[in-house]
Amino acid sequence: MNIAIASDHAGAETKNFIADFLKNKNINIVDLGCDGTQSVDYPLYADKLADYIIHNPSDLGILVCGTGIGISIRANRHKGIRAALLYSDEVAEMVKKHNNANVMVFGGRTMSKEDIAKRIDIFLNTEFEGGRHQKRIDMLDM
Ligand code: RB5
Repeated sequence: MNIAIASDHAGAETKNFIADFLKNKNINIVDLGCDGTQSVDYPLYADKLADYIIHNPSDLGILVCGTGIGISIRANRHKGIRAALLYSDEVAEMVKKHNNANVMVFGGRTMSKEDIAKRIDIFLNTEFEGGRHQKRIDMLDM
């Protein structure tokens, strides 16, 4: 499994932190930008990441913008994308168990790096429960 990662300028430093954090776990990273040197439009990076996940459905994605909100809104407009803002440790667990999220989203200006690292670990170490939750997930793309 690869993890694809993308951000706007407000999330670029956090994206680079996350990339290093995951590389240290021997996880292969696909970095879709941006490089953080100039102001960019977050919908474009949400689109790039969504396109990658749709073509590589067994991989996971991570998106970062200033708050995590704008990039989530855009990512979730793509059929097949379940992007979840991991705003607490509990949510990091539940979005895997119940929603089988395929994109983790973080706020580069609103979350600490410590919290982000902890929530990525929680998410990666939690299993989707399936069953009634699969039926509901299937309904999302109807
Ligand atoms: C960029 O300034 C900022 O608006 C963006 O990163 C994000 O927070 C939008 O939701």
